[in-house]
Amino acid sequence: MLRMSPLGFVPTMGALHNGHISLVEDAKRKCPLIVVSIYVNPTQFNDKEDLKNYPRTIEADLALLNKHLRKEDIVFTPDDKEVYPEEDKRIFSFGNLDNVMEALNRPGHFNGVGLVVSRLFDIVRPDMAFFGLKDFQQVAVIKSLVRQLKLVVKIVDCPIVREPDGLAMSSRNRLLEKDIREKAPVIFKTISRAAEMIGDNDVPVIKKFVKSTIEKEEGFRIEYFEIVDDIDLIPVSNKRSIKEGKHYFGCIAVKAGKIRLIDNIKIPLV
Ligand code: PAJ
Repeated sequence: MLRMSPLGFVPTMGALHNGHISLVEDAKRKCPLIVVSIYVNPTQFNDKEDLKNYPRTIEADLALLNKHLRKEDIVFTPDDKEVYPEEDKRIFSFGNLDNVMEALNRPGHFNGVGLVVSRLFDIVRPDMAFFGLKDFQQVAVIKSLVRQLKLVVKIVDCPIVREPDGLAMSSRNRLLEKDIREKAPVIFKTISRAAEMIGDNDVPVIKKFVKSTIEKEEGFRIEYFEIVDDIDLIPVSNKRSIKEGKHYFGCIAVKAGKIRLIDNIKIPLV
């Protein structure tokens, strides 16, 4: 008999690139059958313009997936009625996860992510679901959602895929103006240096370094740079509050021209 479990699931909003494909490949390695969804979820956009401008490239997405999926794998492209047959009014409580970094800049965003992911899990019923660490806070939110709803799905987090110059791949990169795109590698370069600096410097010095280095580039403005643990995402203000046994990441959001970019890097324990 053909074994079709575990069933793997890769939720996406399309405009697919190699970051998404790395999730697909990891899912294929672990699961004999996978579902990839493409759905631009309106409830996670707090900015209507952002929703309107979100790149939609379904033909190219299907062609790319065709090259990577096996014949039994499934692409799922639901419409709004299928995901939300009626208005979904649930309000989740993600504690501190909803009070830091992305949550402050995008009110309601993670509730919308919780709504859509729980609906997609209802429909697909996966055994494993794959998420990219590019969206570091989203991974923590999804893990919290799974605990709250007592779901049996296993969440697999996958490493960030980068362009050759270090910029984290993102559907939004194609919206960057040419000169901004050329300077954008400064983000990864600077947070990589910040991760090395932790040996000899305290957190405020590192934060200052990150801000001043990136903002030296015209058109770049830091929204936040925080060093947080990967479970509760509590920002550390100095090295004394770094606890052994936990994992810490430096997380950044930058307004690069008109586009908001996020990235993160593991901070070694010292
Ligand atoms: P989207 O931005 O399309 O991303 C889909 C998945 O691809 C996410 O898990 C994201 O973290 C991952 N991903 C994106 N860029 C990546 C990169 N450079 N390296 C590794 N992984 C990367 O995230 C969403 O969609 C939505 O919020 C969704 C979970 C689908 C709910 O609507």
